[in-house]
Amino acid sequence: MRTDLVIERFEPDRAARAGFAAYHDVVKACQAADRPGEPTLPLEELIGRLKKPMPGMGRAVHWVGLRHRDVVAVAEVFLLDEENSDIAMVNVKVHPEHRRAGIGSALLCAILPELKAQERRVIEGGDVVAGTAGQLWADAVGFRQVRRVVRQALITATADRTRWDVPVPGGYRLEYWEGTAPENLIESYALARGAIRDAPLGDSGYRWPEYTVERVRAAEAELRSQSMLQRLVVAVHEASGAVAAFTELCVHPRRPDWGYQRDTAVVAEHRGNGLGRCVKAHMLRRLVTDAPEVRWISTTTGAENMHMIRVNDEVGYTTLPTLIAVQGELTAVEARLGAVRRSPAVRSRIDRPGNGSGDRQRGTSGRVADGS
Ligand SMILES: CC(C)(COP(=O)(O)OP(=O)(O)OC[C@H]1O[C@@H](n2cnc3c(N)ncnc32)[C@H](O)[C@@H]1OP(=O)(O)O)[C@@H](O)C(=O)NCCC(=O)NCCS
Repeated sequence: MRTDLVIERFEPDRAARAGFAAYHDVVKACQAADRPGEPTLPLEELIGRLKKPMPGMGRAVHWVGLRHRDVVAVAEVFLLDEENSDIAMVNVKVHPEHRRAGIGSALLCAILPELKAQERRVIEGGDVVAGTAGQLWADAVGFRQVRRVVRQALITATADRTRWDVPVPGGYRLEYWEGTAPENLIESYALARGAIRDAPLGDSGYRWPEYTVERVRAAEAELRSQSMLQRLVVAVHEASGAVAAFTELCVHPRRPDWGYQRDTAVVAEHRGNGLGRCVKAHMLRRLVTDAPEVRWISTTTGAENMHMIRVNDEVGYTTLPTLIAVQGELTAVEARLGAVRRSPAVRSRIDRPGNGSGDRQRGTSGRVADGS
């Protein structure tokens, strides 16, 4: 007997709209199952992200798993670069109606050869919601938990805006810009961005970038190339003229109701003065005035980072289910998956006699097909 799972590469640059819609159906169904009550990722946003990953994620590679020509699973891999070029960030999703049939494991198996070819040593998954099937699966396929990440969201319509009336601490002034840091602040702003390196990363292999003026300018250019509007509020230390704290929030025109609250950091010697809450509160105040269409703002913070989580609470964020970051050495995951595939229970589903295993690459398209 043969299994009916076919795994093939998904090429966003060549995909037709129907292909994106099928991919989106899986993402939507998973979101409803694993993150109930949260706004669904719109199709246009998904298409945009598939065609061009969010800045800082490196190159992306995608696969889909099909049954009877229906897309039932998707896998996305970000090949991180620079300091993180040994890491593949992996996100496997299986439609809730097709789970526990070995598809998630087969998909992971299928992508390992490509990860090896790309010289990845470590696989990380950062999108597992605590307490869901993803956590149990990650455990089963040989990942270990390396970090817990608190997700928080602010709904602008219902947020108590009086929480944003935060005075600027004495000795500092606030500045705001969009897209391009002013020349007179760029050097100290690049240094201040480096303060994010103090944010805990748990046991994750991820390393924060070394920020330089060139890298800050390159990141700004990358956001611009994606039409992403990057807003910055910084606190400038009056005596030295240096940036002491910053917060960054981005909005993309294809999802104008959604704000991505990105990095916030306070330079070490300026901590304890309430600058984190101050820059975040002023960002929110400014955003609702300039961009009233933004209805939902999301942010993530390492669970150990209680200060930042408390600041977010204070300005009106509510906490969503925690995410778990998981990690495994590629060779260990490969060995574990091999063992899982050889176990009788799984064998009956994804590695049935006569059809080979679910991880065979075929041809240059990377197509993998059980039963071919
Ligand atoms: C995680 C996910 C991809 C698993 O897909 P799947 O096709 O159901 O997984 P598999 O059938 O290959 O599961 C393999 C093993 O994982 C474990 N597992 C998976 N789901 C489980 C669950 N709900 N309860 C208990 N164990 C589970 C089991 O040990 C299972 O083997 P078994 O069925 O023989 O007992 C799927 O649940 C999903 O899409 N979740 C949401 C997205 C996510 O969290 N992805 C992980 C990000 S890297």
